Amino acid sequence: MPKHLDTGLLVPGTVTPMRSVPQHIERPEYVGRTTPNEPDGTGDFYTPEELDRVRKASRIAAATLEHLEQFVRPGVTTEELDRHAHEFLVAHDAYPSTLGYRGFPKSSCTSLNEVICHGIPDDTALEEGDILNIDVTAYAFGMHGDTNRMYLVGEVDEESRLLVERTREAMMRGIKAARPGRQVSVIGRVIEKYAGRFGYQSVRDYTGHGVGRSFHSGLIIPHYDAPHFTDVIEPGMIFTVEPMLVTGSQDWEQWDDGWTVVTRDGSRCAQFEHTVFITEQGPEILTLPPSQL
Ligand code: MF3
Ligand code: CO
Ligand code: CO
Repeated sequence: MPKHLDTGLLVPGTVTPMRSVPQHIERPEYVGRTTPNEPDGTGDFYTPEELDRVRKASRIAAATLEHLEQFVRPGVTTEELDRHAHEFLVAHDAYPSTLGYRGFPKSSCTSLNEVICHGIPDDTALEEGDILNIDVTAYAFGMHGDTNRMYLVGEVDEESRLLVERTREAMMRGIKAARPGRQVSVIGRVIEKYAGRFGYQSVRDYTGHGVGRSFHSGLIIPHYDAPHFTDVIEPGMIFTVEPMLVTGSQDWEQWDDGWTVVTRDGSRCAQFEHTVFITEQGPEILTLPPSQL
């Protein structure tokens, strides 16, 4: 499993077959098909009853990320972490939304070091000093809840620790800016400005999104200053904020696996993601970990 080359960079590993999900767990419509249905046009707004269901799905996703903490250490493979995510989701009667989404083969995304997003769990073993993002989306009660976070593997160098900490802060600032009456572009403006203080770039080509009834509703939440995203934030909306910050250049390439997105210059990336509900008073995070509830 020599996945960290002498250069320190990653190469694709071996991916095991898709895991099964007990038949009593409801599947999203896209499972077993190549492309999801067009979002049904009911938009990004949720009634209190629907919110309650997104909240429950979101809590399962958040609890999964907290559950995974105990397993992240040098030597563990991303495949093993994905198995723990899968088993936890299924034990809570949730379907792992990524499993079979546009052909994605696993129950989580595991994005290590220079991987920006959509890493596929495989036989790559974590090494001391790595930084890892795990992204979990739970489908339960007919709704998706989507969240991701970073994990530090053993002792991590100062530059990487700071990147991780500041990326979390960038996400939180973006979320706090999401107030009713403002355009969604305000979120990206705040995130990119904060990232720039440290010389980081905020990745433009992967965005936040409306989430709930569908995994990706069509609504786009930019993580950079993009005034042309003029959708107005209003009470009742649900969407994600999930910035990816890089220490080097955000130029990216995709591996031949059709998913894994890496920085071209090999510089490291960090990401955090929450699913957020907009109230009259402001944003409410639906994917807080159980220990923070
Ligand atoms: N959870 C990711 C997001 O934040 C999407 C993963 S799609 C997959 O939007 F197919 F790569 F799993
Ligand atoms: Co998302
Ligand atoms: Co996600």
